[in-house]
Amino acid sequence: AERSKDNLCSPVCCILGHVDTGKTKLLDKIRQSNVQEGEAGGITRQIDAMKTKTTVLNKYVCYRMGNKNTNLQGCLSLTLLATNRSPIYAVVEAHFAISPFLSLISCMASNHKHSSPSAYLEIDPFIIALNEIDRMFWWEATPDGAFLESLAKQKRSVQRKFKDRVQKTMLAFGEQGLTAVLHCENKDFARNVSLVPTSEIAGEGIPDMIMLLVDLTQQRMSDRLMYLSELECTVLEVKVVEGLGTTIGVVLSNGILRESDKIVVCVKAALGVKVVASDLEKAVADSQLLVVGPDNDEEDLMEGVMSDQTSLLNSIDKSGRGVSVQASTLGSLEALLHFLKVSKIPVPGINIGPIHKKDIMHMAAMLERAKGLAVVLAFDVPVDMDAEWLAEEMGIKIFEADIIYHLFDVFTAYNEIMEV
Ligand code: GTP
Ligand code: NA
Ligand code: MG
Repeated sequence: AERSKDNLCSPVCCILGHVDTGKTKLLDKIRQSNVQEGEAGGITRQIDAMKTKTTVLNKYVCYRMGNKNTNLQGCLSLTLLATNRSPIYAVVEAHFAISPFLSLISCMASNHKHSSPSAYLEIDPFIIALNEIDRMFWWEATPDGAFLESLAKQKRSVQRKFKDRVQKTMLAFGEQGLTAVLHCENKDFARNVSLVPTSEIAGEGIPDMIMLLVDLTQQRMSDRLMYLSELECTVLEVKVVEGLGTTIGVVLSNGILRESDKIVVCVKAALGVKVVASDLEKAVADSQLLVVGPDNDEEDLMEGVMSDQTSLLNSIDKSGRGVSVQASTLGSLEALLHFLKVSKIPVPGINIGPIHKKDIMHMAAMLERAKGLAVVLAFDVPVDMDAEWLAEEMGIKIFEADIIYHLFDVFTAYNEIMEV
């Protein structure tokens, strides 16, 4: 297909923010779902992805923004990912508390080798959601309202208070070298970051946010978004699904993936396409996915794909000593490994999916080497009855939890007992 502004790919927008700032709630609001309330402890354990269609966006955004001539035209859809992976285009920050947020932005900037957050903004546009405006005293919600529409309806004193808070937020950002302004007052998107006041409970400011994402991607990133027929596909998540086995979630940025294509992924992945294939168990997130064409040498492709190793494999203890970790998804496994590394708990073996008998057998050697480490940490995965019995027989502990912090606490407590 021709490279043109009329044939743009769906931009991938990542939603970043510290714990409990409202990343999931934002996706819930846009897709009218209720994922957040069903989460254990309200904590997200896997990358949440959604794709919106232009027709839906048009209806929702243009109506709300009072914008009849649609400039969403070129944008086929938006892909929104609530994740901790870059690139980042939208960030959520709650309670107007910006200090942890600034460290996040600085970290993004340094990851991309830019000297400052503002330098980062010029290359990878991002916007900031000032979430939870509904928590301001006397705020009166306008369900699904555009921000200015809602602000106009507030009492004078509330408006003043709001402006005062925005002013303070702008100052705080300014002190860090980032010029932040209310999105409706932003005249230079390359230099000033937009602050979008939102309420994810009422839905206020969400139309503004989507509009802004579309504007930004179309006006400032259209070159990067022009469709290429060459395949560009990244593995985002690896997950065991009952009845399907190991599946990978991928972002298909360019090209076409056909059923029964022979694919190569790093035995280590960004849009919610589920790929089911054999031998996926060892796929690694953030890696590329390639299709083996008739003229390709599979070995060559394999080598290229394997070169993007992630820190995941570096977290594995090569001495073979330590606890075994098993999780439902690669994303949660990564988080868990990070946690254990910080706590200096060695991990020689990892796995994705349910715990079977063989996983317990693997721990037999550990019983002799370090009894206290003969432990399987099970995160959000079922344990086979057989495996449970065998573990009991052998004296191997299985710690189960569906919240990462709980798992850690349980293990730490056990470790203290073992050391006494
Ligand atoms: P993690 O996945 O744990 O990192 O959190 P998250 O960023 O996905 O936040 P989540 O969507 O779970 O929201 C955290 C809490 O804040 C939930 O109890 C939400 O109901 C609440 N919340 C989110 N947005 C708003 C908002 O705009 N207003 C109010 N009042 N509460 C909100
Ligand atoms: Na949460
Ligand atoms: Mg969440």
